Amino acid sequence: MNEGIKETLAFKSPCSDSSNICTFRIADFGCSAGPNTFLAMEKIIEAVEQKYHAQFQNSPPLELQVFFNDVTTNDFNTLFKTLPLYQKYFAAGVPGTFYGRLFPKSTLHLACSSYSLHWLSKVPEEVVDKKSPAWNKGSIQCSGTAEEVAKAYSAQFKTDMDNFLNARAQEIIGGGLMVIIIPGLPDGILMSQTGAGIFNDFFGSCLIDMAKLGVISEEKVDSFNLPLYYSSAKELEEIIKNNGHFFKRKVLQHR
Ligand SMILES: C[S@@+](CC[C@H](N)C(=O)[O-])C[C@H]1O[C@@H](n2cnc3c(N)ncnc32)[C@H](O)[C@@H]1O
Repeated sequence: MNEGIKETLAFKSPCSDSSNICTFRIADFGCSAGPNTFLAMEKIIEAVEQKYHAQFQNSPPLELQVFFNDVTTNDFNTLFKTLPLYQKYFAAGVPGTFYGRLFPKSTLHLACSSYSLHWLSKVPEEVVDKKSPAWNKGSIQCSGTAEEVAKAYSAQFKTDMDNFLNARAQEIIGGGLMVIIIPGLPDGILMSQTGAGIFNDFFGSCLIDMAKLGVISEEKVDSFNLPLYYSSAKELEEIIKNNGHFFKRKVLQHR
């Protein structure tokens, strides 16, 4: 993020109004109840201020506004009760899904989202449809082994990412920056071969055992799928490229 802010964030001047007050607006999409979001905001602000002061030596100090977004059922009470006492920014909560518009046009300078965009807006319908070749019987996730299931999840991920990118493209000012941190799969690795995938399969097999014992119905287990998708870096890069609203600067992969 530091590098991106230093090298890519092109703020001509955030003091666009005549009052000469410079307001820099940041939004965290999928902030949860803290504290990770506070640390992320602190780091972003540090880098933004450094860049601003290096670029505009004699300009008025930046005023910072941070918008914390999450779904309406998020625990915003805990988030705001634990807000650091001496934060340098004006904080505001923005409830609602990030798969649609949440801000007026051209109001944000920097958008970030960490460990949130792998949550799909919904489970793809085909995977719970008994008549579909993508019916995901016996599994609660997109493990990657059944091609039709993987296709259905991948299509849902693409639709969701497109909606996210389209909405943010309206909200972020030209020259602004977006940082996405998302869990994904190294090329050629299936979800079922990852730690998270193994855990989900194990959890699914517990539910199947419970159905066998008659604790819950088999139908209920069959109808349960996690709205979760780990894409490869290549898949995500292609979505961003085809969407066309954002110029991709860099993809960093960590294992
Ligand atoms: C694993 S937490 C990540 C929290 C924090 N960003 C971090 O990096 O630790 C994922 C968050 O994404 C939120 N989320 C999932 N889908 C969302 C959506 N469609 N719109 C807004 N928030 C969403 C969840 O409610 C949850 O708080």
